[in-house]
Amino acid sequence: MLERLNTTFRDSVLGGLSQHPKTLEPKWFYDAVGSALFDQICLLPEYYPTRTETAILRERADDIAEALGAGVVLYEPGAGSLSKARIVLEALEAPSRFVPTDISSTHLHEAAEDVREAFPDLAIEPIACDFTKHLAIPPSVEDDMPVTLFFPGSTIGNFEPGEAEALLRRFREESGAQHLLIGVDLVKDRNTLVAAYDDAAGVTAAFNLNLLERINRELGGDFVIEKFQHVALFNEEKSRIEMHLESLEDQEASIAGSSIQFTAGERLHTENSYKYSPDRFSTMAARAGWNESLVWTDDKNWFGVFLFTAAA
Ligand code: TRP
Repeated sequence: MLERLNTTFRDSVLGGLSQHPKTLEPKWFYDAVGSALFDQICLLPEYYPTRTETAILRERADDIAEALGAGVVLYEPGAGSLSKARIVLEALEAPSRFVPTDISSTHLHEAAEDVREAFPDLAIEPIACDFTKHLAIPPSVEDDMPVTLFFPGSTIGNFEPGEAEALLRRFREESGAQHLLIGVDLVKDRNTLVAAYDDAAGVTAAFNLNLLERINRELGGDFVIEKFQHVALFNEEKSRIEMHLESLEDQEASIAGSSIQFTAGERLHTENSYKYSPDRFSTMAARAGWNESLVWTDDKNWFGVFLFTAAA
């Protein structure tokens, strides 16, 4: 399994680095080190999304629980630290199961243990899987159980709009879910956006650069980390934050026997984070077969929590 994952990682990295401009797939950010750095990002003063979404969920937990009804299977693709799911689980009436999935198996099982302690009577079935490929539904989830997909954190914003629509459609088809509860970061002023992805303490920079360190660790790469810098910018036309790793000089790196050239100032594109307006997001979800039922936002309209119902 580890062998297979490494081959996938190597093929994806070599494929991405042979493109112009060079790119790397963001899902590789989340090894054990990257997942821990990501949890730190969520606590940064500049990183408003986690705090804002958490406050909306806390404030609206009872409304959410009422809309979802009793006996729900809560399924969370790409779950991370599970702190948001706990807010929903606490409010739900007799939830029947909680199924968190994550690409980082170690991180997932540790986080699931904590939830087990807090909810001793709840059936929790963590599954290590890559939701960008498929949703693994455990056999214990029967056809007549009401499933709610929970997809917070504006992870949907990390996909190209066309991919995001396809992902939401596939989520509906593969899970048979009745409801989708999803968190989406909204368009706002440029300074607030850029600061959130380029914090003063440099944690987001470390998170971005960890991708090169992971390549060194797992694929025998020889990147000199100090020769790259983290760049975050807002592309207004595309309504997205872009993250790049910029080469500080002309240089060459080798990975698994292949050599890769970089020119000074060349940027390796590592991630996008699309920012939506509520209307644009709901229109896209409708094309993927999800009808909007309710939307909750904060006072500043910085973040939206949307509840959708599967179209008949
Ligand atoms: N999906 C969230 C966002 O786009 C979290 C996230 C994903 C993130 N990758 C990131 C945050 C990289 C900071 C840096 O905001």
